[in-house]
Amino acid sequence: MHLAAGVGEGNAPNVRQMKSLTVLGIETSCDETAAAVLRLENGTPRVLSDIVLGQAAQHAPYKGVVPEIAARAHVEGLDGVIAAAMRDADLSFTQLDGVAATAGPGLIGGVMVGLMAGKAIALAHGKPLIAVNHLEGHALSPRLAERGATFPYLLLLVSGGHCQFIAVLDVGVYRRFGSTIDDALGEAYDKVAKLLGLGFPGGPFVEKAALSGDPRRFSLPRPLMGRAGCDFSFAGLKTACVREVERLGSLTDQDRADLCAGFQAAVLDVLEDRTLQAMRQFDPIWGAKGRLVAAGGVAANRAIRAKLEALAVARGYDFIAPPLKWCTDNAAMIALAGAERLRLGFSDDLSVAARPRWPLDEAAARLRPSHTPGRKGAKA
Ligand code: KG4
Ligand code: ZN
Repeated sequence: MHLAAGVGEGNAPNVRQMKSLTVLGIETSCDETAAAVLRLENGTPRVLSDIVLGQAAQHAPYKGVVPEIAARAHVEGLDGVIAAAMRDADLSFTQLDGVAATAGPGLIGGVMVGLMAGKAIALAHGKPLIAVNHLEGHALSPRLAERGATFPYLLLLVSGGHCQFIAVLDVGVYRRFGSTIDDALGEAYDKVAKLLGLGFPGGPFVEKAALSGDPRRFSLPRPLMGRAGCDFSFAGLKTACVREVERLGSLTDQDRADLCAGFQAAVLDVLEDRTLQAMRQFDPIWGAKGRLVAAGGVAANRAIRAKLEALAVARGYDFIAPPLKWCTDNAAMIALAGAERLRLGFSDDLSVAARPRWPLDEAAARLRPSHTPGRKGAKA
């Protein structure tokens, strides 16, 4: 149903001539309720406000994100988060040039909450709506910081829901080189933490326990290592950990630490191998000095950062790790992706659908010149 056909489309062409664009971003695709206001001035982003309301405490008893709890928490928290973002930016809705909301991929209940809020604000204030692919937000997030990454760069996106290499060539020009064929890396960390009775989210607990463990005690697999391409697989590694726990019966703290150390050592070996493969694919694209960027919650891991940095230096790449607040889910990256799309003259009809799955390559296709600006977002 078209609630107000053309609200978004009609405004978009005028916006293209504007030097400064101010956009509200809304993010609700997982367990972070977030809103941010960003101004894009002559192509340079400035974050005016950035609010994130985490839900970890609500999900902790289940040691994983429970979709229905997440959606309900978004409903309860989103209005206040948006109000806080507008207050911090010292702006009213009428001063915005557009409203960007994550339309997927993600947990569909949560995505619907944020997208509907975005539609309502856009409709009420006659602003263009931009339906943003969450992965495009992550892909552009390294540009949020002062002296942020310049195009092109090779992005390793490693979070609870995603694990992939993306060549980010320009706004809307993304090439996925490889991705996980089963679990995302953060998911594997969370599952191992759950198996060992550690806290949630599991990554930081596994990282900490690994510091006092012996990485050589358990012989764990390195899935896909040495294979062509740069896909990932972590299910086998997790299953190997399950087997070791079954074999041990009961666990001491040292067993836990040794398993965490062994798991993380396997992860580091796999990441090194896969990143080298991705760099080989990426090198011919740009010729000169490459840039490797790590984003997503797992990029908070110090051992992983150190490994990637060493690899980058050895290969003559720059290594860029965005500030942690923009590595994990946030709305500033959604506002940036929305503002960039708006600058190119794209906006979405209010009938645009929320999508649980939405590959980034498809989001890129929507920005190719052969596609009509302002066309309806593709349905799931
Ligand atoms: O990007 P994010 O906040 O949310 C999404 O999944 O989109 O990432 C959360 C994931 C969780 O799986 C968490 O365990 C993992 O990132 N994580 C870590 C670390 N900190 C967070 N994994 C490994 N080491 C860490 N220090
Ligand atoms: Zn994310």
